Amino acid sequence: MDRPLPEALDELVAAARAARDGAYAPYSEFRVGAAVLAGDEIVTGANVENASYSVAICAERVAAAHAVARGLRDLRAIAVVGPGEEPTAPCGVCRQFLNEFNPDLVVVSEGSNGDRLLEPLSALLPEAFGPADLGER
Ligand code: THU
Repeated sequence: MDRPLPEALDELVAAARAARDGAYAPYSEFRVGAAVLAGDEIVTGANVENASYSVAICAERVAAAHAVARGLRDLRAIAVVGPGEEPTAPCGVCRQFLNEFNPDLVVVSEGSNGDRLLEPLSALLPEAFGPADLGER
């Protein structure tokens, strides 16, 4: 049985905060942790940068790909914790990546000031291009 989402969100944010420890961000020093709720499981990720700067992968995509690669495709929510006082919003590439698995994904991001961004992905990426669009060939 799936846990009710509001109760799970605090735990998810805590997992994202802990996942920041795994960030490899020697270039930007902008360390980000993410945690997805996939079914009833929490799967985490952190950003991984590269000497070829544009090759960096955001924490959100690491967490989501980690879950999917484990066979957990039922992404229900994602939490993000960056270094800023204000909540870090997922970048456009991550919004597109996450849309593939659930356009109604709950996105929560917490800043060090305790403020939270809490939106469905569909509000952050309106009129998204998704798998169904490929059927129109
Ligand atoms: N980054 C994330 O991991 N998630 C976000 O939501 C925003 C940006 C990473 C990418 C890069 O390693 C660093 O933060 C600076 O852009």
